[in-house]
Amino acid sequence: MIVAIDGPAASGKGTLAKRVAQHYGLPHLDTGLLYRAVGAARLGAGGDLDDVAAAVAVARTLDLAAFDEEALKAGPVGEGASRVAAIPEVRSALLKLQQDFARQPGGAVLDGRDIGTVIAPDAEVKIFVTATPEARAERRLRELLERGESVTLIEVLADIRRRDERDAGRGAAPLKRAPDAALLDNTHLDKEMSWLEALAIVERRRAEIGL
Ligand code: DC
Repeated sequence: MIVAIDGPAASGKGTLAKRVAQHYGLPHLDTGLLYRAVGAARLGAGGDLDDVAAAVAVARTLDLAAFDEEALKAGPVGEGASRVAAIPEVRSALLKLQQDFARQPGGAVLDGRDIGTVIAPDAEVKIFVTATPEARAERRLRELLERGESVTLIEVLADIRRRDERDAGRGAAPLKRAPDAALLDNTHLDKEMSWLEALAIVERRRAEIGL
């Protein structure tokens, strides 16, 4: 079973994807980390995020096993990731890795922006997770403060809005709900309720297709 979970920044899709993967004993790939790793490497190398050839070279040689998830999840890396993710050649360079992961025997859970639309349009289960920008900004703020970063709600909300606009407005594989994806709006749900809703969606779909 391939489970595709898409949604905007800080919608909680990563947490849900991890939990779905754990529940069904499936491997999980947070595809945002791939773009974060490319963005972080370019920022670390002096920072021209628009240098297509350099970004593609990084994307082609990514080593998943060497990822430092903690560092990649830091606030400023998200903006760099969103910038390199708008480069079609970077997306092409990362396509096969993601498709191979999705198609491994037994299936997998992938979360990102274009899993249900581009990476695995044939996924058995598709969920589009969302919440208002304000609700997402509050959650992301809490997360960043817990990590010791010093940011304000206004800054986090502005970053989320900017990323939403770029991720949904780009020409290459923009963030959008696949027509056959179930919508999970968790603006008014806590983590547990959101998980129960996701589980109900997966179970409903499994029953529908006889899995
Ligand atoms: O999910 P995230 O915040 O870790 O993703 C970081 C950036 O990477 C996000 O702003 C857009 C981009 N991204 C993408 O374009 N496609 C994906 N499948 C996953 C992430």
